[in-house]
Amino acid sequence: MTQFKFSKRVPADGTDAVGAILKAAADPQIISFAGGLPAPELFPVKEMKAAVDKVFATHGQEAMQYGAAKGVTALRELIQHHVKEKENVDAELDNVLVTTGSEQVLDLVGKAFVNPGDTVLVEQPTYLCALDVFKTYGANFAGVEMDEQGMKMDALEEALKSRPNTKLVYTVPNFQNPTGRTMALDRRQKLAELAAKYDVYVLEDNPYGEIRFAGQHVPAVKSFDKTGHVFYMSTFSKTLAPGFRLGWLVADADVVNKLTVLKQSADLHTDNLVQYAVAQFFADNDVDAHVREISDLYGKRKQLMADGIKQYFPAGVKYTDPEGGMFLWVEVPGVDDTVELFKECLKHNVAFVPGDPFFAGKPQPGAFRLNYSNAPEDKIKAGMKQLGEALQDAVAGK
Ligand SMILES: Cc1ncc(COP(=O)(O)O)c(C=O)c1O
Repeated sequence: MTQFKFSKRVPADGTDAVGAILKAAADPQIISFAGGLPAPELFPVKEMKAAVDKVFATHGQEAMQYGAAKGVTALRELIQHHVKEKENVDAELDNVLVTTGSEQVLDLVGKAFVNPGDTVLVEQPTYLCALDVFKTYGANFAGVEMDEQGMKMDALEEALKSRPNTKLVYTVPNFQNPTGRTMALDRRQKLAELAAKYDVYVLEDNPYGEIRFAGQHVPAVKSFDKTGHVFYMSTFSKTLAPGFRLGWLVADADVVNKLTVLKQSADLHTDNLVQYAVAQFFADNDVDAHVREISDLYGKRKQLMADGIKQYFPAGVKYTDPEGGMFLWVEVPGVDDTVELFKECLKHNVAFVPGDPFFAGKPQPGAFRLNYSNAPEDKIKAGMKQLGEALQDAVAGK
């Protein structure tokens, strides 16, 4: 057998713990709240087909040709207006980069800004794939404590003072993956101020912000940015379809230009046909109404899940009550090993993602993420009952 000499960027253990969890949860016997998938029944298949047909009929050759690394101008203009309308973010066309999923923004920002040994500050817990990406570039992480109002700004300032080699603060301020929490308005303002004061960059990752089913919209951290220290990223994955792999960055033109060069090395440009088709889709459809439909469905599913927690889970269990997005976070006191708990729950034919991989540092025992967007109502009801029974058994030490 060849012993391949992988670069230092490749994780030495080479294991995909979350992949193994999702694989175990994919058994059709199992009701899975583990994945992070949108509801496929709301994908706008018919409307998107009409948009693609129109693109082929009107500018099929352009759509099939190589394109510009920054993206199709019509789509960049759409994003420029979209971030102004939805987030009060002022952007020129030069500030917009179309990417292959917003996941690519994480990678490009990591490549462009993180030197080995630089510190990246993250919410505790945070989106696990962001940890994986920044790790590839040699980041050291420090977790910043959260509460129900999101990342705590006093804790962040402490971390910034004690870690002068901090380069980046990564946050998911709306309906965070994995906790479902939303950062309060005053903290957003403070975060933009701290970034300028300590000359560090904030990567504001907002895939879920539009999927709000309760409460009031809170403007983006980027809308408070006066110095260019905040980079804003979002995606069409949750409002249209993740299979399009269409995301974007809004940042200072200098940052956009440097990242464009790196993007060119990665994939030359994002799929042209999809970019033209999404721009066409926006022109021909009431996208706000479509997003409201998604939000309403997820709101109902979240409520069913919260009702199931109240009805079936052991006393003392804590959980978040998100106003949007796709996830809620559960903390079961008295559990030492969440992965073991996951295995017990699998025996009851129900699955979640254990909290451990979402932590940059020491994980919080007994914490796990539940997804409510992807399971139909009957599955949520049945699954929460099964999960409640499994947790009752685990807490009782059976
Ligand atoms: C917080 C967060 N950021 C980024 C992404 C990547 O999304 P995409 O690449 O589909 O835009 C996800 C996907 O679930 C996510 O949860």
